[in-house]
Amino acid sequence: METMQTIMTRRSIRMFKETPVAEADLKKLLEAAMNAPSAGDGRPWHFVVVTDRGRLDRLADEVDSGNALFRQARAAILICLDPAREGFAGFGEQDCACAAQNLQLAAHALGLGTVWIAVIRVPPREAGCRQVLGVPDTVRPFALFPLGHPAERPPPEYRYDEARVHRGGW
Ligand SMILES: Cc1cc2nc3c(=O)[nH]c(=O)nc-3n(C[C@H](O)[C@H](O)[C@H](O)COP(=O)(O)O)c2cc1C
Repeated sequence: METMQTIMTRRSIRMFKETPVAEADLKKLLEAAMNAPSAGDGRPWHFVVVTDRGRLDRLADEVDSGNALFRQARAAILICLDPAREGFAGFGEQDCACAAQNLQLAAHALGLGTVWIAVIRVPPREAGCRQVLGVPDTVRPFALFPLGHPAERPPPEYRYDEARVHRGGW
């Protein structure tokens, strides 16, 4: 898919078909995520890839109050932040957000769907990810991306807002 078209048509997907996500596609998502820019080229990220049905169901219970979208998801990727690897201290969340957006756009370009599930700064969700996926104490769960083939097609939204643009100064 052409880059601008991918950006302008991506939507969050919360309903998935039963079709599994191919290992080759999971690898492409990780490649896209890890090609993101990062402060000082620190790349302070780790990725936990989950395809096991039991663990996906436990993520539903422990991270998102039993949210059905995890029960439908065929895979999930948890992005984690390793503060010890930050290129510049304190920039890791911005780095992980860049990786996260690359992952979401790559999923859309490959015909997959995903949605950003907030984890960092949501203590019960951080604890749930640690418990279900064994994330070590030195690393912070950042955001979780349930994945699958879309069973819904939200239409593209055009959100450009001229009122938010300040030309030549505020
Ligand atoms: C930082 C961040 C946190 C989000 N957390 C959640 C979440 O916990 N659960 C959820 O269903 N969607 C979450 N979303 C998805 C947003 O709700 C969604 O991106 C927004 O409504 C715009 O819709 P779109 O992604 O379809 O364009 C999150 C998005 C971002 C960027």
